[in-house]
Amino acid sequence: MKNIVLVGFMGTGKTMVGKLLATQLKRQRLCLDDMIEWKVGKPITKIFEEDGEPYFRKIESEVVKAASHDKNVVIDAGGGVVIDKNNIKRLKEHGIIICLIARPEVIYNRTKGRIHRPLLNILDPIAGIKELLNKRREYYDRADYTIDTSDITPEEITAKILNIMK
Ligand code: S3P
Repeated sequence: MKNIVLVGFMGTGKTMVGKLLATQLKRQRLCLDDMIEWKVGKPITKIFEEDGEPYFRKIESEVVKAASHDKNVVIDAGGGVVIDKNNIKRLKEHGIIICLIARPEVIYNRTKGRIHRPLLNILDPIAGIKELLNKRREYYDRADYTIDTSDITPEEITAKILNIMK
């Protein structure tokens, strides 16, 4: 069976839904952010702070390369993985790409107060979210399926994905 690859902006529900999918399908879940942290040996905020975003993206691509060889897994990718077209190409080799989206205000409410996302630790997070969403829209649009998670629960999102996979 094909891998299920969850992409989408921060706060759209990838982690929660990835866990639910993996449990329901009895599949292994690969969280690319966790893999990056294990590989580098420090949290993502520290990687951004001490090594910079380009270094983070380089490690992210290495981790994508490793994870995309796997089969029958659920892959939960970080929000920026789509920017590099090689990442998406690799993830598509054995996987169906599902993009979770949400309205900027919903993303803000889900992510506020959480300090582990360096790109949102800024003065005006709503403006930052809108700007990044605009920049990334064309990349997110390359997914095989898109699900708006703004007004539905993680369980409902999971059910929709299971339906797609039938
Ligand atoms: C990022 C999203 C984060 C993490 C890093 C960069 C992004 O993952 O990979 O902070 O560029 O959108 P989540 O989408 O899981 O929060």
